[in-house]
Amino acid sequence: PVGAPDKALAKKVTKVGIIGAGLMASQFALLFVRRLEVPVLITDLDRARVDKGVAYIHDEIGKLEEKGRLDADAANRLRGLIHGTVDKSEYADCDFVIEAVFEEVGVKQQVFGEIEKIVAEDAILATNTSSLSVEEIGAKLAHPERLVGFHFFNPVAVMPLIEIVKTPATNEQSLSTAFVVAKGLKKNAVLTADAPGFVVNRLLAKVMGEAARAVYEGTPVADVEKAFAPLGLPMGPFQLIDLVGWKVAAHVQDTMTGAFPDRFYANENFHELAELDDVVEKDKGGRVTGFTKAADKIVKKAAGS
Ligand code: 3HC
Repeated sequence: PVGAPDKALAKKVTKVGIIGAGLMASQFALLFVRRLEVPVLITDLDRARVDKGVAYIHDEIGKLEEKGRLDADAANRLRGLIHGTVDKSEYADCDFVIEAVFEEVGVKQQVFGEIEKIVAEDAILATNTSSLSVEEIGAKLAHPERLVGFHFFNPVAVMPLIEIVKTPATNEQSLSTAFVVAKGLKKNAVLTADAPGFVVNRLLAKVMGEAARAVYEGTPVADVEKAFAPLGLPMGPFQLIDLVGWKVAAHVQDTMTGAFPDRFYANENFHELAELDDVVEKDKGGRVTGFTKAADKIVKKAAGS
């Protein structure tokens, strides 16, 4: 069982470091500057990736300005708080560092191994992993007590939830800081055990996996989308997969199958559809339509019709 944190123990966060500058990381980088108004560093494997992440954040700040949600001064102040770098030594004075890199334990261990040598001994480390074991991610840390899971949902700006994950090693200060940071970001935090898929993804993996299976049983993608409506989800399962990204969603399927083979099956249908995503149109409007048609075609071909 997981216990409630004592918020009085929280560490004050004055500078945030983000590792990874992909869409998810860029989305929460924006949230950190907007809500905490502290300097936020963002980094990735190379300058081009970093620049793309920073450009996305600047763009989103511009949109908020156009909508009248930020005045010009506030927008400029937020732009000034975001700094992209490929030099991790700049992370030395970050007191909260969160990663959103490739979903592989080894990659995340390597990232934290490197960052742990740079930051202060009591800096809090957080992982945005969607379903990997947080304990395993922290297994090679000299100070695993400072690691927490801090799992955002897509789109970060609007989804109100963060899953905070405690491992057997996580100390009270890290947990407490995570809760205070989540509150500062104006999100609802739930404390979950370090079980594969935490809470949300084990439910979503079922929904998404069964949607892929239904297509292979002969229901067209568009009809599967419509048929899920009674569940009350804000969007159909395929649109949701499209939002999350097929690669991320396929990874979640595999993690759940590996962890709970009695409850999740190896979903080849899902992987076949995920591969298809690489060859269909990528633009926002055409993507789902393109995918739907291509998916129906591949399923018909597989059925020999
Ligand atoms: N980025 C930023 N803001 C966005 C956005 C995005 N990608 N998409 C929508 N929004 C904002 C809009 O700007 C709008 O804000 P405003 O009202 O302040 O102007 C607001 O969200 C509502 O947007 P719309 O009216 O255009 O659209 P909808 O009412 O249809 O809502 C939605 C869009 C919020 C995306 C809704 O469809 C939804 O909640 N979908 C489900 C999302 C979901 O379940 N996410 C969880 C995925 S699982 C995950 O991420 C975990 C991972 O580990 C796999």
